[in-house]
Amino acid sequence: MSIVHLNGAYLPAEEARIPVTDRGFLFADGVYEVTPAYRGRFFLFERHLARLQRGLCELRIDFDTRDLPAMHGELLRRNDLEGAEASIVYLQVTRGAAPRTHAFPKEPVAPTVYAFAKEYRRPSEERWERGFTAVTVPDRRWPRADIKSISLLPNVLAQQAAVDAGVDDALLVKDGIALEGAHNNFFAVFGETIATHPTTNVTLHGITREYVIGLARELGIPVEERPVMVEELGRATEAFYTGTTTEVRPTVRIDGKPVGDGRVGPVTRRIWEASVERVTAWGRGEG
Ligand code: PDD
Repeated sequence: MSIVHLNGAYLPAEEARIPVTDRGFLFADGVYEVTPAYRGRFFLFERHLARLQRGLCELRIDFDTRDLPAMHGELLRRNDLEGAEASIVYLQVTRGAAPRTHAFPKEPVAPTVYAFAKEYRRPSEERWERGFTAVTVPDRRWPRADIKSISLLPNVLAQQAAVDAGVDDALLVKDGIALEGAHNNFFAVFGETIATHPTTNVTLHGITREYVIGLARELGIPVEERPVMVEELGRATEAFYTGTTTEVRPTVRIDGKPVGDGRVGPVTRRIWEASVERVTAWGRGEG
């Protein structure tokens, strides 16, 4: 049975209740974070906390994040996930419960804090080697996609468009630019160079993206942070997505057309192998 965290308490998921007046429920007025752990050790935790802090600040939600590291650890413990090769903690903070008015409640209310932990299962090597597929979808999000808001309807519809098309990922496109996925960042590879959209207001500043950029630089792979046009993808030699629940995932077809030769390429594979090595060592307590 899954044990979740709700407003300071740990309880079975079935017993967790929030009021129908919660502004997360009524307005999607809140932010969330998803943090990975390898063998119970949270990876790049400070960066996840910093992004959460920034989102809370942008939405003017007053919430002290000091207890979050202990709470994350406790959730893994209570769900027997400390030994799991990989797991994630999902955390959501909403402005809290108050009678429905669009503006913030006049009297301050306590934010609602909800979190759960879950095992993350990496695709098998054989599955990964086959590569994944994507379809382009118009990006219909607000121009603050840098805030990790729980208002995810355009992302939900985009991912469903991918499912309907029988592919694995959506590729959100605005003004001809291949921005990112519905829940992951996008990289195109041109020969030896990897390219991804810069961190502006139109994409989420993915922690895995940042980590992969660092890893690529360590491996001597040139990195360009620039808008990648959809029309350029025809000459991309490889493509991949990154994210906490994606890690590094090679894309071999976009809109039915092969990327490069339509097989997982060497640059993606090098980054993937280095990444698995890094997080496995992290899980062993190294680094
Ligand atoms: N999604 N872009 C979008 C739109 C995302 O929602 C996410 C994360 C990412 C990757 O960010 P990171 O590397 O920090 O996980 C990029 C989470 C995992 C989710 O919605 O479940």
